[in-house]
Amino acid sequence: MTWLAVPTYRGVLPMTFAFRAQIAENWPMSLDLKEIIAGRLGENYQLHERHLNRTLVAAQRVIGFDKVYARAEGAYLYDMDNQPYLDFLSGYSVFNIGRNHPLVKQAIRDVLDLDLPNMVQMDCSLLSGLLAEALTKRTPPHLDAVFFCSSGTEAMEGALKFARAATGRKRAISLASAFHGLSLGSLSLMGCESFTEGFGPLMEGFDARVPLDDTEELDRQLRSRDVAAFVIETVQGKGCQTSKTDFFVRAQELCRKYGTLLISDEVQTGLGRTGKMFGFQHWNLEPDIITLAKTLSGGYVPCGAIVTRRDIYQKTFSRMDRCVVHSTTFGRNNLAMACGLAALEVIDQENLVDNTAKMGALLMEKIDVLRAKHSFIKEVRGKGLMIGIEFHEPRELKLKMAWKLLHKIDKVLFTQMIVTQMLSKHRILTQVAGHAMDVMKILPPLIIGEREIDMFVNALDDVLTECRKFHGPMWELGNNFVKAALGSRRTAEPRPVSA
Ligand SMILES: Cc1ncc(COP(=O)(O)O)c(C=O)c1O
Repeated sequence: MTWLAVPTYRGVLPMTFAFRAQIAENWPMSLDLKEIIAGRLGENYQLHERHLNRTLVAAQRVIGFDKVYARAEGAYLYDMDNQPYLDFLSGYSVFNIGRNHPLVKQAIRDVLDLDLPNMVQMDCSLLSGLLAEALTKRTPPHLDAVFFCSSGTEAMEGALKFARAATGRKRAISLASAFHGLSLGSLSLMGCESFTEGFGPLMEGFDARVPLDDTEELDRQLRSRDVAAFVIETVQGKGCQTSKTDFFVRAQELCRKYGTLLISDEVQTGLGRTGKMFGFQHWNLEPDIITLAKTLSGGYVPCGAIVTRRDIYQKTFSRMDRCVVHSTTFGRNNLAMACGLAALEVIDQENLVDNTAKMGALLMEKIDVLRAKHSFIKEVRGKGLMIGIEFHEPRELKLKMAWKLLHKIDKVLFTQMIVTQMLSKHRILTQVAGHAMDVMKILPPLIIGEREIDMFVNALDDVLTECRKFHGPMWELGNNFVKAALGSRRTAEPRPVSA
């Protein structure tokens, strides 16, 4: 082998490639990731404590979430002893098609095998064109122009810029309890103070929060005709609230009347999660802009997108000297684009939108049946497989006392107790739906069947039955949370809550 060139089936490789090929073939120096993982799995939390977010580690330890997962497939995670855990969180809705899907894996292998030119930047890559085509086949016809990025918050930032450029207005408003991401623009739309504390000042003109279903307040905000965009989640990530009225339809009418663009943030609700391809379709809305991310590329590679009307898009890229006025280096990278094509294919071929509608209805029905038995359950809500279970003070006197004690310390502690027990006793991963609320949130992958539904419902039934035994192990756990919460207030250590 020469150091200058290596003959291959395509001709002669240049020197740098030859050098790499020689390393791969001959050099003892290599990175054996399989061996590293086999040797060091289990050090996860120590490593994070030392080098990453040690506050998160402390919180995970308090709530018993400090598991070491060794592998994952479909709807299940497996620990180092190969014990399965039912994943009803899906990486916050990233793994809608299940974890490690073979079609997405194959797409990644194909991209690597093809040695494609990636992110040349001053070209137009095929794969991004194909993914934009595939996406716009699934959106309503008016949403036909796509911008790719790498995350949900980045999609929101871009959408806000597009709205400002298209309207010439600077304000943007959102719903109470909104969550649209944590970079400064999207954070400025936040409806939950614990995320904004300490990060101000936020974007000027982004400070109005309209209560869900309050059409009058929305009218009052839009009337001044200085609002570029009204941003909605049709099912809210924090608390799983959704409108039971025609509010979204009225909101769209008001937006049109006052020249405000309607942005539907589909980062979590999009691509099947709610039992329709997009959340806005439950109300037959025609939003001006939608944002996507999370499950868009099937879980391996970050990918986000803004899909909007061509006329809105062109207001940003309005002249040749402004052709890259909004851009991001990794936005159209081949791996993300190929994974996106594969993920959309899986959603269609496995009928995941229909499955979500059916399984979501069944799951909500079965949880609702538990309401008669467990007075802790107030309401089951959501759409498709984006479900919130709200708890409230129980009827039984002795349980009322325990409930009140926990709530005096922190409103999430009761729900955290349920979520922790679901994981430690039944190996089912769920989450608390937000700060200061009694809501448990479940986001199963869209591939689940009746088996997983029964596993979840039986486990919840068992955990709530245990809650009825005052002084039993559940309330001991609650007591531990109270101690941890009080201790953390003294030392400013993390509290036992989840985001
Ligand atoms: C509705 C919604 N929008 C935006 C975001 C931000 O997405 P990312 O975490 O990819 O920045 C999220 C994340 O949870 C979300 O749920």
